[in-house]
Amino acid sequence: MSDFRIRKTRWADDREALAGIRRTVFIDEQHVPEDMEWDEHDDDSVHFLAEDPAGQALGCVRLLPSGQISRLSVLLERRTEGIGRALLDAAIAEARAQGLREIFLHAQTHATSFYEAAGFLVDGGIFVEAGIPHRLMVKTLDPQ
Ligand SMILES: CC(C)(COP(=O)(O)OP(=O)(O)OC[C@H]1O[C@@H](n2cnc3c(N)ncnc32)[C@H](O)[C@@H]1OP(=O)(O)O)[C@@H](O)C(=O)NCCC(=O)NCCS
Repeated sequence: MSDFRIRKTRWADDREALAGIRRTVFIDEQHVPEDMEWDEHDDDSVHFLAEDPAGQALGCVRLLPSGQISRLSVLLERRTEGIGRALLDAAIAEARAQGLREIFLHAQTHATSFYEAAGFLVDGGIFVEAGIPHRLMVKTLDPQ
């Protein structure tokens, strides 16, 4: 049984928690090079944090102004509880609220079926980013 909540935030307000999740998942677990993990998009993005009832960070995601969703990550010990999907849904809802008509992401190939379940479609072939195979996936948003 999972107990968590999703909170919208900014990099400047929750940098420590957001960076902590991403360091654990992408740098430590997936061996993404440190200089590729941290980029210029964090300040301009809308971020979401998943937290347990005590306020401990469990996962995060960000939405760039371009419509790209990225850095979706959930701590290994809290996966398959619906946290990743809840974070993704929050980012999609934010994109709709911003009036974006199309959103996209670079999906690690192991996760394409996860994103397909949320309505994303694969567009094109496999490419390598940060040493990990990815595919471009896109989703069209109907006007509200
Ligand atoms: C991908 C990730 C964010 C999913 O988070 P999660 O909290 O485990 O996902 P959820 O529990 O919300 O899963 C929702 C559904 O997707 C399925 N799912 C989860 N991860 C999946 C994966 N990698 N491939 C296929 N299906 C997956 C779940 O089984 C679940 O299915 P159900 O609704 O039928 O039960 C998480 O595995 C993760 O952080 N992985 C490491 C970082 C990473 O690879 N991020 C993606 C970058 S593109």
